[in-house]
Amino acid sequence: MKVDVLLGLQWGDEGKGKVVDVLTPNYDVVARFQGGPNAGHTLEFEGQKYVLRSIPSGIFQGDKINIIGNGVVLDPALFKAEALALEASGHDLKKRLHISKKAHLILPTHRFLDAAYERLKGDAKVGTTGKGIGPTYTDKISRNGLRVGDILCDFEAKYAKAKARHEQILKSLDFSYDLSQVEREWMEGIEYLKEFPLVDSEHEVNRILSEGKTILAEGAQGTMLDVDFGSYPFVTSSNTICAGACTGLGVAPKRIGEVYGIFKAYCTRVGSGPFPTELNNEIGAKIRELGHEFGAVTGRERRCGWIDLVALKYAVMINGVTQLIMMKSDVLDSFETIKACVAYEVGGKEIDYFPYEVDDSIKPIYAELPGWRCGMTKMTSEDEFPEEFNNYLSFLEDELGVPIKIVSVGPDREQTITRYTD
Ligand code: GDP
Ligand code: IMO
Ligand code: MG
Repeated sequence: MKVDVLLGLQWGDEGKGKVVDVLTPNYDVVARFQGGPNAGHTLEFEGQKYVLRSIPSGIFQGDKINIIGNGVVLDPALFKAEALALEASGHDLKKRLHISKKAHLILPTHRFLDAAYERLKGDAKVGTTGKGIGPTYTDKISRNGLRVGDILCDFEAKYAKAKARHEQILKSLDFSYDLSQVEREWMEGIEYLKEFPLVDSEHEVNRILSEGKTILAEGAQGTMLDVDFGSYPFVTSSNTICAGACTGLGVAPKRIGEVYGIFKAYCTRVGSGPFPTELNNEIGAKIRELGHEFGAVTGRERRCGWIDLVALKYAVMINGVTQLIMMKSDVLDSFETIKACVAYEVGGKEIDYFPYEVDDSIKPIYAELPGWRCGMTKMTSEDEFPEEFNNYLSFLEDELGVPIKIVSVGPDREQTITRYTD
């Protein structure tokens, strides 16, 4: 069988958590393949709201196995807090949450290094989530990292060595910090991790597939935050794209099946970096208010703007998207006119591709479509869609060349409409 991949096509927070939860009943296993607690994936059902950071979003549907893959970076202290909160709300995780021994550990000093490097960058800072993501992936690539499997053997010595190296760097950066409390919590997190199945997840994943079972791979962040293809250097430190599922789980490219590309009916971004369709005006503020566009992890205001089809087309291409999923349609319910960026003006020239250099001088060129101006949150079938909304969907499908198979009209699990298939 194949691994289907669900990933964000914009700058993150597209609604991945919600849709993974909705699709989980169709799969045997759900697996996260990259990122770490920089993610905040929100799910709502039966009047409850949950925000997941490291735990896959398939954890609430029945007794499905969920896997944290080798491509993920894990902070044991944050993981413990997240898992205990789920256990307190009645979700038993211990047997069905498997963790790759090859996943890298975020050390307390990685978080301080994240802050120190951001300070060093001054005005050019990335606006990271401060969770130590960049320094942890840096250590992985430079072959200095600690992995989950390391906690099973001679861990104290390995930890002391890594910590000493980090402290040297922090000293050279003149960065002051207090390690005692966070280190204690972190060590408690390490002990807690040992209560979970620590596995060779690449073997497990391939065995599951050869048994004829199905896997849904859950992406974090979004394509425009990918370390290779995003708006570098204002990106995260992992491959958020479809290929990341191969390296982050240990599956061969020919094993990839459907690629679900998820996007908002508009666009948001948290942190610094270019955002050609950003609206620094009352329209942007209205989208933020109606869409509750504040970070699930940091609470930071999300920057808001119209949908950017130049960037989206690029994301569809890079990922080989086979099905599109449009989120937060309801947020645009009251708009008289909806704009969609179809090209950029760069140095007086019009281009329709995502260029190497994306800066503030880029001017978006918009198509304008009439809004539907009615409430969509209670709709349950595409038969109820207003004509203007259908026109918006057709317009996007024509531009992107991929069908929109699912439309989301609210944050709840139930507010999800699957469109007719041909
Ligand atoms: P993720 O990181 O991609 O999982 O997305 P986040 O959870 O960070 O952000 C998506 C936000 O939008 C969450 O607060 C969701 O509850 C909410 N949400 C998801 N789908 C919809 C929708 O269709 N309409 C509305 N109004 N909110 C939605
Ligand atoms: P989910 O999975 C939105 C952004 C940060 C920053 C940049 C680098 O919930 O969609 P990092 O801490 O990764 O080094 O920060 O990436 N960022 C996200 N933005 N959603 C996310 O995750 C993000 N994870 C990181 O704001 O600009
Ligand atoms: Mg999020």
